[in-house]
Amino acid sequence: MKSVRIGLMGLGTVGGGTAAVLQRNAEEITQRVGRSVDIVRAAAREINEQTAFAADSAVKLSDDAWDVVNDADVDVVVELIGGYSPARELVLKAIENGKHVVTANKALIAMHGDEIFAAASAKGVSVCYEAAVAGGIPIIKAMREGLTANKIEWLAGIINGTGNFILTEMRDKGRDFDDVLKEAQALGYAEADPTFDVEGIDAAHKLTILASIAFSIPLQFDKTFTEGISKVTTEDVIYAEELGYRIKHLGVARKTAKGIEMRVHPTLIPQKRLIANVDGVMNAVLVQGDAVGPTLYYGAGAGAEPTASAVVADIIDIARTFEATVENKVCALGYQSGKESNTAVLSSDDFETAYYLRLSVDDRPGVLADVARIFAEQEISIEAVIQKEPVSEGASVDLILLTQTVQEKRMNAALSKVESSKISESVTRIRVEHLN
Ligand code: HSE
Repeated sequence: MKSVRIGLMGLGTVGGGTAAVLQRNAEEITQRVGRSVDIVRAAAREINEQTAFAADSAVKLSDDAWDVVNDADVDVVVELIGGYSPARELVLKAIENGKHVVTANKALIAMHGDEIFAAASAKGVSVCYEAAVAGGIPIIKAMREGLTANKIEWLAGIINGTGNFILTEMRDKGRDFDDVLKEAQALGYAEADPTFDVEGIDAAHKLTILASIAFSIPLQFDKTFTEGISKVTTEDVIYAEELGYRIKHLGVARKTAKGIEMRVHPTLIPQKRLIANVDGVMNAVLVQGDAVGPTLYYGAGAGAEPTASAVVADIIDIARTFEATVENKVCALGYQSGKESNTAVLSSDDFETAYYLRLSVDDRPGVLADVARIFAEQEISIEAVIQKEPVSEGASVDLILLTQTVQEKRMNAALSKVESSKISESVTRIRVEHLN
């Protein structure tokens, strides 16, 4: 049987990992696919003696990615460049040239996926993107195929390895935020622009994709609420532990009677939940289906070979179904084109969550009563209160509150009153998810 010929765009962390896995496991892959999978072309920004394949005459090297998408000998283009552009243009051109595409690019899929999948469907080629979400965890396959019998009620995931690595090192070793971020960059976990990791944009890209598969809705990255971890303080990490919680950067997608919540933010999770104990660069996604109940998927969320594991699995999927028509393949987002749901995505005002709040208040009688009155006006029920000792006489004290579930607009109203009446100049708020 004819071999499947691969063109790789990008020979960085994931590109290098993909080349290594394809070469090391070539025998097993051929056994599983029934034909060999060969890299015939590769492009990298800079070519020198150290570049992968520099000494391999079977692989044509180029410093121009357009050479890969325009190469008549390439069957499958693997896009590992990242970013919105020129990745979008390259992928669309590859499709126009009749090539299948594998990509690890979550930004590309979250922003331009609908356009790309429509073009691929019209041309009869596949676009696979397992590596775009949660690194090596086969979560796209699990949701699109393994859970396809279910109505998905909600999902919650730690879907950025860099952010989880930072939060874990801060909590366990008391390390400095910037210092840990530098290590994550050196290990190849972080995005080219690490603010994408720290400010939650990378996780929002991934959550957008998961929500689309879960609820059969078009990709709507612009409607995903996004809050990063850069403002999480060591005090909050310690107070959360005292209350029996861990702070994790969580992506949550939930279907409610009013619409769909799509949100990424630091979150307190009860310590006893398995997902609260997912540490370091590991990712995990918890999915609640109406038939199966909760299922949890765990694995490395970033890094060369874990991500390559997902890229190569997509290549193998394409190779296995090389002759199948588009109608005989699994739909890109799990639902048939034209059958998408128009369920609205909710604005943050309509989210419903519980809250952890940290106020800095004067150490005087009546402060707690003032706070309680403002919360009562908004019908917010307080579940727990801790007041810390003042560090010196007359100093303000930290007041920590846990609330029950409340609509976000009510919380906004209460907190703006607490701040405007100077009870606490500013209030730190972190959402709480019990995930039960
Ligand atoms: N920067 C990403 C992360 C890489 O840290 O999770 C994997 O998508």
